Amino acid sequence: MERVGVLTGGGDCPGLNAVIRAIVVKAFQNRIKVIGIKNGWQGLIKADTVDLDLDSVAEIVSKGGTILGTSRTNPYKKPEDVKSIIDNFKSLNLDALIAIGGEDTLGVANKLSKENKGLKVVGCPKTIDNDLSATDYTFGFDTAVNIATEAIDRLRTTAESHHRVMVVEVMGRHAGWLALHSGIASGANLILIPEVPVNLDEVSAILKKRKAEGREYSIVVAAEGARIMAGQTVLKEKELDSFGHVRLGGIGETLAEEIEKRTGIETRTTVLGHIQRGGTPSAFDRFLGTRFGVTAMDLVLTGKFGYMASLKGTDVIGVPIQDAVGTLKTVDTKLYDLARTFFG
Ligand code: F6P
Repeated sequence: MERVGVLTGGGDCPGLNAVIRAIVVKAFQNRIKVIGIKNGWQGLIKADTVDLDLDSVAEIVSKGGTILGTSRTNPYKKPEDVKSIIDNFKSLNLDALIAIGGEDTLGVANKLSKENKGLKVVGCPKTIDNDLSATDYTFGFDTAVNIATEAIDRLRTTAESHHRVMVVEVMGRHAGWLALHSGIASGANLILIPEVPVNLDEVSAILKKRKAEGREYSIVVAAEGARIMAGQTVLKEKELDSFGHVRLGGIGETLAEEIEKRTGIETRTTVLGHIQRGGTPSAFDRFLGTRFGVTAMDLVLTGKFGYMASLKGTDVIGVPIQDAVGTLKTVDTKLYDLARTFFG
């Protein structure tokens, strides 16, 4: 083992640089050279790389984003791109590759690893959505929850002053983890998630009851992937990315309009958007990212290809990437029932 490539794919995420740093430090201690692949799978298609050494990672643990750049490139869209990846893996003399990403990036890593064309791949799970199976948490999620919680705390004081309903749209296209955690942490009056269709009658009844009881303002936290009952889909933009995901947005605005119409209470929307992904990672994400990076390098050193780092309880272990990419980890009914305890 002499040369290991590392790439970051999909949406950026606080803690990515902590992972990269950990990989480089651990590799250096084992006399392994780390080649940074720029902009996710795109970089391996184009052989666009940067050498990483201890100096390049010296001050990045606290930095958001990824020093390698990222993209949502899906090489399986074009057979020639998969061929370029295999060719460049060889021409760059890589002995192994660590792919840091969410379901899409790890899905590609899993396929490449399974196709048995000589690519030795190890994974590292990231996403602010926390919706990857086979790991209890992904890094990035904690930072995003904290950013959303602080924002909701701020929105509460303006909602209170104006006696308004404030709808806060947070990220989470298939899973409501961010909405659930930030909503409970900020004492939201309603939390709406993709897993449970939104019943507008129930929403307006809760908000009207609060008003009738003299509680003059309300906070509604909605995941961007939340859907109003009866199959109505609300999308601001309908383009698909290269993995076939629709670009979401717009549910907050629609909810605000519906709430105002049905309750007569003045309502405003705030879409937190990419603020949730930007900036300084929390200490938890730096720590988890560091543990994931070290474990990913350990998996490379012990030849556990097709595996990824995973948090199980308080341990970080290796699990098959396959286990993470089959089905998404969504919020179960029991947990949502817990959130319901605090509605109203
Ligand atoms: O990475 C996950 C995520 O943050 C989702 O929550 C969100 O729907 C999506 O990325 C946004 O993607 P983009 O940055 O490509 O607009």
